[in-house]
Amino acid sequence: MSQAEQENKTMIPNKPGVTVGNADGSGLMFDQIAKRYDLLNRLISLGLDQSWRKKLVASLPAEGELLDVATGTADVALALANAYPQTTVVGLDPSVNMLDVGQGKLERKSLKQRISLNVGTALDMPYESNRFSGSCVAFGVRNFPDRLQGMKEMNRVTADGGPVAVLELSEPRDGIFSPFVRLHVHHIVPWMGAILSGNKEYRYLQKSVQAFPPPQDFAALMEEAGIQNIKIERMPFGVAHLYVGRASHSAPHSASHSAGQGQSA
Ligand SMILES: C[S@@+](CC[C@H](N)C(=O)[O-])C[C@H]1O[C@@H](n2cnc3c(N)ncnc32)[C@H](O)[C@@H]1O
Repeated sequence: MSQAEQENKTMIPNKPGVTVGNADGSGLMFDQIAKRYDLLNRLISLGLDQSWRKKLVASLPAEGELLDVATGTADVALALANAYPQTTVVGLDPSVNMLDVGQGKLERKSLKQRISLNVGTALDMPYESNRFSGSCVAFGVRNFPDRLQGMKEMNRVTADGGPVAVLELSEPRDGIFSPFVRLHVHHIVPWMGAILSGNKEYRYLQKSVQAFPPPQDFAALMEEAGIQNIKIERMPFGVAHLYVGRASHSAPHSASHSAGQGQSA
């Protein structure tokens, strides 16, 4: 096993109270920045992250039990519970400190009866197949040590035909504003992250966004995981994309899978 694989290895999966993994982007890294994560997010995304999350929420059903993978400080879990009063929500994340911040938020908003937060990794979820009416992950799939395995798990735990939605940052590759957006992502974001979090590892954000595959390639990976009918929506300036497909428990790699490019928001 290489050093990178060793570092990314899940050490104690799904054991409450234990942070899993110790590489860049892992639960341990997020443990160190948990208290300042929400502030950092607002500043780095210039406040746009909340409106992107709203689009993610809109892609999930208004009933049943919903899963938010890499829930972090539970912003998406809270948004789901607020938008859909008939649902219950489960949030999963390996970072105990991020979940602690999230738990405080949902207690303050009196939502602890409808949202439960679990420690664990996307690669080996502690849930039975078909359990959730819909599942999602926001800004988390970049951190999965094995994205294909994480997407296979999301497909497995989501009811057949239910939505599987992924919101993820992307490298702005075209458009007249792309040089400015790249300047923001490559220089201002790591600088702000390092200053505000006191943690130079926040530079991982820039590196991991750069390393993330182009939208059509990521959609192909979702298809490989068995997810069907994937639609891609580009967020303004191409800084993020929303991918929404349908869980399918029939044989993967079916010829009927299709990935289409949606309209820009
Ligand atoms: C950028 S934060 C996103 C948090 C939240 N979804 C949001 O929208 O603000 C990325 C999260 O991915 C989590 N993460 C890292 N490795 C993971 C894994 N293997 N499985 C699930 N989540 C993971 C981190 O602990 C962190 O909370």
